[in-house]
Amino acid sequence: MSIPWLESMAIGVPVLDVEHQRMLDLLNSTQAHVDDRNIDGAQGSMAEYIDLLTTHCDREEQLMMQHRYHRTDDHVRSHQLAIAAAKEVPAIIAATERHHEMRQVIFDMQNHLIRRILLDDGALAVYLDYIGLRPEDIA
Ligand SMILES: [Fe+2]
Ligand SMILES: [Fe+2]
Repeated sequence: MSIPWLESMAIGVPVLDVEHQRMLDLLNSTQAHVDDRNIDGAQGSMAEYIDLLTTHCDREEQLMMQHRYHRTDDHVRSHQLAIAAAKEVPAIIAATERHHEMRQVIFDMQNHLIRRILLDDGALAVYLDYIGLRPEDIA
């Protein structure tokens, strides 16, 4: 299932919102390729997703440490779980007979991504605003 990006998913930090939207797009592409039985395409989108997720999490973690965010440990753990889960997907895609499982796994990833954006990243954005950081100054 393709899940469209909604403005209500934006946390108000442009640099992070752009990456969140791109990550959702990449999971949507992965799902579409799986449905078309285009395994190479699915692997390509998923590899790009894993790369972006990794650099994105690094960016957020640097931001959290730089600004002494008090929930850094929980947030980092959530990132680590997300990256570990994403890295298991290529092997599931490669096992092409597990089509139904593939669809469920990618649907779960879409769901988890949106929940992390709204809960973990939303809370981080509130904190950055609270300490007076302007969204346009966050790179
Ligand atoms: Fe995050
Ligand atoms: Fe994020």
